[in-house]
Formats: sequence, structure tokens, C-alpha cells
Amino acid sequence: MRKTTNFNKDWYFILEDNPTFSGQEADENTFRKLNLPHDWSVDYAPQENEKTGGGGGYGKSGIGWYRKHFTMERLAEKEKIYLYFEGIYMDSTVYVNGKEAGGHGYGYTSFYVDVTKLVREGENLVAVRVKNDLVPNSRWYSGSGIYRDVYLVRTNEIHFDHFGVRCATNGIYPKQDTALLQIRAQVVNDGSTAENVGVLHKIYDRDGKLVSTSGIALYLEPGESSDCMVRPTVEAPHLWTDEDPYLYTLVSTVVADGRELDSFTCKTGIRTAVFDADRGFLLNGGTVKIKGMCVHHDCGLTGAVGYRESWERRLKELKDMGCNGIRCSHNPPAPVLLDLCDELGFLVMDEAFDEWLLAKNKTDNYYSESLAYGSSMFFTNHAKEDLTAMLRRDYNHPSVVIWSIGNEIPEQSSVDGVKILKFLQDICHQEDSSRMVTSACDNIAAVEPIRTLREFENALDVVGYNYVGRWRERAETFYEEDRKEYPDRRMIGTENPSAGGIRGDYSQEGWFGNYATATLHHEALWRYTASHDFVSGDYLWTGIDYLGETRWPRRGAPCGPLDTAGFRKDTFYYFRSIWNTKEITLHLAPQWNFEGQEGVYKQVICYTNCEEVKLYINGRYVGSRGYQCPRYGAVRAWNEGFHKCSTTNDLHLSWDVAYEPGVLRAEGFRNGELVAVDEVCTTGKMVGLSADVVNTEISEGSLVQIELSARDGEGRFVPDACPMISCQVEGPAYLVGMDAGNLLDLSLFSSPGRRMFNGLLLAAVMVEGKGEVRVTFASEDGAAETVTFRAE
Ligand code: GAL
Repeated sequence: MRKTTNFNKDWYFILEDNPTFSGQEADENTFRKLNLPHDWSVDYAPQENEKTGGGGGYGKSGIGWYRKHFTMERLAEKEKIYLYFEGIYMDSTVYVNGKEAGGHGYGYTSFYVDVTKLVREGENLVAVRVKNDLVPNSRWYSGSGIYRDVYLVRTNEIHFDHFGVRCATNGIYPKQDTALLQIRAQVVNDGSTAENVGVLHKIYDRDGKLVSTSGIALYLEPGESSDCMVRPTVEAPHLWTDEDPYLYTLVSTVVADGRELDSFTCKTGIRTAVFDADRGFLLNGGTVKIKGMCVHHDCGLTGAVGYRESWERRLKELKDMGCNGIRCSHNPPAPVLLDLCDELGFLVMDEAFDEWLLAKNKTDNYYSESLAYGSSMFFTNHAKEDLTAMLRRDYNHPSVVIWSIGNEIPEQSSVDGVKILKFLQDICHQEDSSRMVTSACDNIAAVEPIRTLREFENALDVVGYNYVGRWRERAETFYEEDRKEYPDRRMIGTENPSAGGIRGDYSQEGWFGNYATATLHHEALWRYTASHDFVSGDYLWTGIDYLGETRWPRRGAPCGPLDTAGFRKDTFYYFRSIWNTKEITLHLAPQWNFEGQEGVYKQVICYTNCEEVKLYINGRYVGSRGYQCPRYGAVRAWNEGFHKCSTTNDLHLSWDVAYEPGVLRAEGFRNGELVAVDEVCTTGKMVGLSADVVNTEISEGSLVQIELSARDGEGRFVPDACPMISCQVEGPAYLVGMDAGNLLDLSLFSSPGRRMFNGLLLAAVMVEGKGEVRVTFASEDGAAETVTFRAE
């Protein structure tokens, strides 16, 4: 029987290097006690002189050690024991009872360490050295340390290999009433005797009903690892889609003499996913346009640690926006992210590398003392192992619809690049015949000699275009020329401009500042993508602001419609208005608190999917606007019926309005009927706070997120309030940190005081036990609010 135990609790940590830390004799009094996952970089405020530089978000690097004492109950005969690390950044060595047990270089792939021979009954010690001192080594904030979960796994010496059970949909026939699955299992005999075993697979639907049973017999010599395959069918399958992400549960077991030796359980979905040169991306045979967003792995205030709750909140926001795709840029993500993508319905591009052999620049001024640091350090010796780890671990996720073997790989324009591409793509095909492979190319239309080699592009299953409007003589031709030249080419926008900016900033100045033009690049692209079926869709840079890739004095990059705290910017509603076709969007920007600017003309922007919007200022009619994209075709003769004409070719509406305090009101119409209203008002000063707990279920171990907003005397949101807020937690919980999405706020996320930014602040609290928790917020000018919740 397999037993998997969470191994996150009660570790000791020190940011210091000493060879004695691997053994019993180390003095732990100088260590700090903590629970994993842990990112030591986020324990420090960014400093301009950190060698990680702007690329790495000025994060603290170094060499750190983690130690944990644990007790093993009686070791069973014929038992295998592993430690499973979901991710350590980076270059780690694992010691058990003073002896080296294993280690791992690349900071984003999960790995097992076999500790069977090193653990003993009774007291044990595991020590992990994490070496993140060769910096800058990342173009984004990487974090440092054991930043993902750790597990202790005990199983029989005859067992499934790591990530050894893989289930794919092989076909859906006919008229979607039967699905043919293909389940492969790799079983290992680490024992000293030959064995006859059975491998059983059972599939249950969401209600727990058994819908498929299959099995196969295997004879295993000692030391043998054997691959076996079954092809069960599921009648009347409930297919997984981005809109209806239905999941089944697969339970696989290895049995011998009626005894269960090992078991494996995972969620899976039944669906087919292919890319087509003419029809774009096909999910279960039908075209689905990918409206995707790239994300980096950090979660703002917790740095590289990505708790399920943080990802759930942020991904649900993206889903509400109409986004249906996530690109894990530029590395394999935490497993929990993919679990959520399965559950919520995202079409995932799972990406292995940002570098192959050639390293990229890592610093803000593109100068680095040592260009050679980074994931390329591990590529020569471990590329196959790392890629395989991603492919096997993530195989069962129905959300993963395409593998990416690289992002903007410099070798795209070198002869050797094609060889490496084929080497990596072949590994993907050997491991997984059900998914296609891409690589994100940024130089497809660049000038020689950096232009992507045609052989490189043509070797890929699907050609990934980064910034497809770049380089061309006319940016709006996008994919057109290549489509003519290579009509059989499958195409996906692997990375293109999103619409970011600074939340609540209406200064219309600076690189990020102009709210009125923030969406223009994307509008041009979307008009093309939406109306050309052969373009599978896009993954935009990015869905969420991220730490790193910045310049002092900012800590991150404001590229997304959500800020680092997960709050919506105005551009969120732009995407919602064009992507979420199920719900009505009507959103006005800017805010309307411009004291002292009376009479100054302001551009009023509206994001909407209403056909017509009428704008009023203080009850006076300003004007009506409309746009339509894609345009509906005529349903009758051209001169019959009502053909609405839009007033703009933009995908947003705008009016110039002289500022006067009061109320801006937008009324949205469809078919001539009023269907939505949005108002922005000149508010009073902030006098109160409002706090909302995001979580619906809270128990020990929950990360509780609380959204705090500024309110005026009439309870209205105050969009320009930025007071200092202190936070106090009472009960079985502690404050993990606060973030308001202001990338210029360089203070420590975990400190108990933080400045609100344009009316909002997020606090995250970790629950450590059962009971009532009280969280009190107080602003520097006297407003206060308390929330209480019970942890069950
Ligand atoms: C892309 C790159 C991303 C990020 C982005 C910045 O070229 O792939 O990782 O650096 O530019 O805008």
C-alpha cells in the first residue's frame, strides 16, 4: 500500500552555508523554525544592490539550509521510501542522516529522492542544501528555497514508477457516445524475487459511479521495470471542455496474491485536443479560440510560494474575464496550478525552458557580470531528465493541451538549434503521442542574422509566435505572410501584448500610465485573431503582474489586467467585454475625483459588450457610442431589417468630457433595451474601511485572503485613498503578508503595516488551528474594521 504524507511541517532554516549542517552535530539554535513551503527571498525587502538585479526583482539570493527531524515507525519489509520535492529553487542537495541522498539542479521540475537505504527506525534527520548564490540567474523573480510542497512516500518494492500511470483520450466515437482511453502504467520490481502482478485501473465519474474497469497481468523479473497498456472505453462520456471542465477519477492498483502493493489516484478528463492548420485549436473536434494569458509562478506577497487559495482567487478572476488559457511561462508550474486549471477549465501550455544551451541576459541594464548563470547551467546534463519530469508529472491533466519546449530560445536562429529542437520534440513525442509541441519564437520576421531559421519553425508541430506584430513592414499583417507561404503551418500566438498599466493611475503619463490607450495593441491583434480561424488563439503577456523583470525602484512588471494582489485594473473589463460573451460588461474609466482640475477635458473610456452606450454627466446627455467586433453577418437581404452601425473601429468607446464633480453615468443597450448601468461618482474623503473574506471554507492550514477597500461617508468606494493600514491578528492564525499591487512599494510584504494603493489592499492570514480568528485593520487616519471567522 502506498502512503503519502505531507512533509511540510517543522523545518529549521538558515541562510548560511556550512558543511556540518548536513549532520547531527549542527547547532540548530541559530536556525529559524518554519513550515514549508518557504521562499527566503520574500523574507527580505528588495534592495537596489542585490545581485539578482531588476530581472530577479532584487530578491535575496545565497546558500541556505533546511533541516527536519522525523520519526519513522517500524520499517516494513520490502518497502521503498522516497522524499518527493515539488520544487526547490535551485541546485539542491539532499542529505539523510548525514549521507548524501540525491539532489536536483533545475529549479522548477519536481523530483524524487530514494531514501530507502538511509532512513532507520526511530529518529532521522533530513537536511537540504539550496544553492542559489550564482546570480543573476533569472529574468524574473525566482524566489529561493524549498518553495513548493514536500512529501514522504512509502510503498512496496514492487510499485508504479514515479508519475508512472498515464491516461490519455485516444478517440471519441462516433458522435461522442464512446471514448477510447489509453492507460499506460510503468511498474518497477525493486525486489530480489520475480513476481506475477496484476495492474488494475478503475475510472469513477464525479458522483463516484464506476464507469470503467480494466486490467492486465505482468511478470516482473527482479530489477525489471515494465510498461503495460490497456485501452478501456467509457460509454456516453461527459467530455472535459473549457466551459464544462468535467473530471473523472482514475484509481490504479498493483496487486499480487490478492494484496494491494501500490496504488495511484488522480483526476482526469476525457477530451481530445489538436491544432489544425486551417481550423485552429480543436477541442473534442470543434474549434475553440484560445483566449490565453501567460503567468509567472510568483503569487505577489508570498513570492514563489503559490498556495492553492491564491491561485484559485486569481484564476477565478481570469476565468470571469473570459480567459480560457494559461501559459506557464517559462517553466513547469506547481502541480496545484494545473489541478485548478483542470477544475476551472483552462487550456494550458506547459513550458519546459527559457534557455537551452545559450544563456540570456538577466539584469535591468542588460549587463551581467556572468551571463552564464541560469537554467542553461543544467541543460547539457539534465535537459532530458527535466523535460521528461514535466511530461510525466503533468501528463494526466486534461487542461494541458500543448507542450512548449522553450521560450524565445536564442538557438532559434542557429544551426544547432534545429538539432536541439528535434531532440527535445522527439522526447515529447516518445513520452506523449497525444499532444503537440511548440516553442515560442520571437524572431520569426526579424532581420538576418537573428531571424528564426525556417528549418526551426518548420520542424515544430505548432509554430509559436511571440509578438507577431513585431518586425513586419506592416504590423497588422500579423500571421498573413506566413500563412500564404506555409499553408500547412499550425499557428498559435505564444506571447503577445496584454493590456496592463498601473491600477487606478489616470495620470496619462509615462510608460505604463496612459489608461486611454492601454488596450490599443491588443485591439488590433484581437480584430485579426478573432476573425481568422487558422490562428489558434493567443497567450498574452501577462494575465497578472509579476515580481522581477523590472528596474529600480519598482519590484515587478505591471503587464496584466490583474495586479500582484489580484485586484482588477480597468483593462480587466476590456478583456471581459470582448472575451466573456455570456455576461454583460459595462465599465467606465477613469475614476471621477479630480479636485482642482475643473474644466479640464478627460478622456472617458468605456469597455462594454453592449451594442450602444449613452453617457451622461450629472444627468446631462454627452453622447452615444457603439462598436461591434466581430461584426454579425446579415440574416436577411441587405436592405431589410435593422443593421446597426458602430461609431468606432476601436474595441472600446470614448468621449471627451470636461471635468466637473458629480456623477458620470453610462447606460448600455442591446436591441434597443437598457441592459446595464455603470456610474462613477466624485466621492468624499475616506472615513471607513470595508473588509471581505474571500474564502468560503476555512480550516487549519487555510490561507485566508481578505480584501480591504476604502469607503467614504456614504459607503462609496474611494478610488484614490492610499493611507497606511495596520493589521492585527488574534486567534489561531498569523499574518502572512499584505499587498496592494503597488510595485513602487518596496517594503516587506510580511510587515504588519502597509500602505493601501488606490483604495485597495489585500491581506493574507495563515490559519494554524481551530477556533475563532479576529483580524483588525486600522488606517493611520482613524478608520478601522474587524473581520472574524471560524476555522473548523
Ligand atoms: C518577452 C519574453 C517574456 C518577457 C516579455 C517582457 O519577450 O518572452 O519573458 O520578458 O518579453 O515584455
